[in-house]
Amino acid sequence: MARSLAWEDGSVVAVDQCALPHDYRELRLRTVDEVIDAIKRLAIRGAPAIGVAGALAVAISAELHTVDGRCDVDAVLADARRIADARPTAVNLSWAVDRVVTHLPGGAPAVLAEALAILAEDEDRNRAAAANAAELVLRLCERRPLRLLTHCNTGRLATVAWGTALGTIRTLAEAGHVEEVLFGETRPLLQGARLTAWELAEAGIAHRLCVDSAGPAAIAAGMVDCVLVGADRVCANGDVANKIGTYSLALAARRSSVPFIVVAPVSTLDPSLATGADIEIEQRSADEVTVFGGVAVAPAGTAVFNPAFDVTPADLITAVVTEQGAFG
Ligand code: MRU
Repeated sequence: MARSLAWEDGSVVAVDQCALPHDYRELRLRTVDEVIDAIKRLAIRGAPAIGVAGALAVAISAELHTVDGRCDVDAVLADARRIADARPTAVNLSWAVDRVVTHLPGGAPAVLAEALAILAEDEDRNRAAAANAAELVLRLCERRPLRLLTHCNTGRLATVAWGTALGTIRTLAEAGHVEEVLFGETRPLLQGARLTAWELAEAGIAHRLCVDSAGPAAIAAGMVDCVLVGADRVCANGDVANKIGTYSLALAARRSSVPFIVVAPVSTLDPSLATGADIEIEQRSADEVTVFGGVAVAPAGTAVFNPAFDVTPADLITAVVTEQGAFG
């Protein structure tokens, strides 16, 4: 299937997620700073995708800092730190950067080979996690075809290809099991309205957009058989950080006894953090909330709380499903 990230002639080639749904265009990023900028402004976004892009950025750094066959390891390590810090919450970014950095003793070719391995693995890992999650959904839910609810964008755009929660929806839809997908617009940056709507239309899967606050109401009204979301970090105790708005969906799902399933690759698991209280939640700028489509929607100077993610406690989660199976 179409790939959202690639490596071509020394550049990271990525679908520009800021341009969708109006324009489908690709970015060609040749420097570390260009990749960091793309990650910070969410042109490349989604936990697995920023991990792959981060690994490739370290490969760019290793190549740029190699003179006469000798790699300036300290300079690459400084770049690696800046890349890993571009966004704090999704552990996939630091996981991928750390993984390629361990290959620095082999020089720039070894770093690139490892980054390309991460890129190449992504689709298979997503498809395997999606297959495991689809099997679980079919076991837990009696109704056919299924009415599914998802949040944010966890599809091919958020990964290299296929996706995690949206990959599960693709897997279920391919088998003819999906009646409709309901999804929130995902304020403030509209990953649901702009990206998930675009992907579901591209895949030919029936879908309906709602405002974020309508998701819990839809669950309470019996309109949803299963909630499927992705993750940015899963702690040792099973607490999950994901896009802001996930927690309220989990609460509603529990209240209505609807399965709430998290789909993520193993690279999203962070056993070094005991609980969700230890996760650094990215806070983003006020104007993402006070300005909508270039128009101010709040009085000038209004103070804003704009966390990019929230934490869903493990006891609200039916299962976390990875390419290695389900737990929870
Ligand atoms: O701020 P974003 O758009 O990068 O947030 C993305 C999410 O929260 C996704 O649900 C998560 O990264 C999983 S993507 C497979």
